[in-house]
Amino acid sequence: MSFDYKVADLSLAEAGRHQIRLAEHEMPGLMSLREEFGAAQPLKGARVAGSLHMTVQTAVLIETLTALGAEVRWASCNIYSTQDEAAAAIVVGQGTPEDPQGVPVFAWKGETLEEYWECTEQILTWPGEGANMILDDGGDATMLVHKGRDWEAAGAVPATDEQDSEEVGVFKELVRKTLKADPTKWTKVAEQIKGVTEETTTGVLRLYELAASGDLLFPAINVNDSVTKSKFDNKYGVRHSVIDGLNRATDVLIGGKVAVVAGFGDVGKGCAAALAGQGARVIVTEIDPICALQAAMEGYQVARLEDVLDTADIFVTTTGNFNIITAEHMTQMKNKAIVSNIGHFDNEIDMAGLARVPGVSKTQIKPQVHEWTFDNGNSIIVLSEGRLMNLGNATGHPSFVMSNSFANQTIAQIELFTKNDEYDKQVYVLPKHLDEKVARLHLDALGAKLTELTKEQAEYIGVDVAGPYKSEHYRY
Ligand code: NAI
Repeated sequence: MSFDYKVADLSLAEAGRHQIRLAEHEMPGLMSLREEFGAAQPLKGARVAGSLHMTVQTAVLIETLTALGAEVRWASCNIYSTQDEAAAAIVVGQGTPEDPQGVPVFAWKGETLEEYWECTEQILTWPGEGANMILDDGGDATMLVHKGRDWEAAGAVPATDEQDSEEVGVFKELVRKTLKADPTKWTKVAEQIKGVTEETTTGVLRLYELAASGDLLFPAINVNDSVTKSKFDNKYGVRHSVIDGLNRATDVLIGGKVAVVAGFGDVGKGCAAALAGQGARVIVTEIDPICALQAAMEGYQVARLEDVLDTADIFVTTTGNFNIITAEHMTQMKNKAIVSNIGHFDNEIDMAGLARVPGVSKTQIKPQVHEWTFDNGNSIIVLSEGRLMNLGNATGHPSFVMSNSFANQTIAQIELFTKNDEYDKQVYVLPKHLDEKVARLHLDALGAKLTELTKEQAEYIGVDVAGPYKSEHYRY
């Protein structure tokens, strides 16, 4: 079998395979879906273009999709998040590095922005028939299809101007190049796509915007807002991986330090809990009074960033918003303050502005850890160039929590692919009974014993003995 792929080094496949084997043990949700649906092959005929961090856990997801019958092409959704050994193992599959038999992957740690967008294009460019499903994280693959088609219809890609960030400039250039090679490429790609399942808060936001303006080209399932995704991965996953990122990047003692967490949504709650657990004094910034009050009730100081710039040792942005930490903020920070972002995109920290501060210089301490020194001699340590630090500086969330997220992804792919005509060009969440199913699949592994409702109790609280157990408006 020969196929195209682009990864760092296929000789890493054996190391990757060992890690995947251990991860499978920690991913009971995905493994039981393989058992439940393996024979029926519900994804037979699905050609999935996946854009999601190419980690060991994602490798188990990819092999679950193929075990259910799907064909897959994969890229990472961040330039730093690929684990090269996982990417190699997925390409090699049952074969050898000399004769790979697995899945086409286009991802390596440390891509340039140009390479990043080329890889994203690759997952949507299939030999023969095109992709008919997207599995997205952050919405970049979905955006490429939508913008590509819009600009194709308009007859030109808008000119790149000085308002555009480097990323936008690179993106426009990629679309220009693809349309030059094939002027109707994106219409053809869009026509084939039956739907997208989206992993994260930021990608979901983009989908709701497209649906609201009537521009969404195919149905979408919002995987993020399954309870067993956002209330677990965003919170408990981050509670693990934010510390991992800080430790591997800097190994600074967190206890006793002052840590600022910008945003107290699901990710912010996980970050604050983890930093407090290490003994840091946590300060939260919020714009939403409900989340600010929650933070105060948890015992955190709630303050404005401007007021704590010169007292904090560690900053983590978790807002999914932009320009949270500006260049001006960074110049006022304490000497050797650590500045990091765990939200999806790098624009939470104004890295371009930082580079323009007069007299500033940048020193690489190690890959994805940089010291920026100002002309007064003070410096700050910036992780992963402002990109999500838990995947750039560490290896992201652990397998068990990702098993919940990816069980939702797998169920959502099956749902959209097999019942496509039941969905309009809107954004949906999975029904609650499937959310409860995902949780149920993970209880045994933790030795958790669920109490069963009696028939009388179920009637008393107005639910079915088999669930769902909560109303749609219940918030967990
Ligand atoms: P969320 O919407 O629950 O929380 C974001 C919070 O930030 C909200 O409470 C909002 O009020 C607050 N906020 C917005 N603007 C602010 C500002 N200017 N100052 C202070 N607070 C502000 O979103 P969630 O689920 O917590 O996700 C946050 C980001 O993290 C998203 O970009 C998401 O895609 C990403 N994410 C990253 C993960 C990772 O592994 N690195 C995992 C899961 C999500």
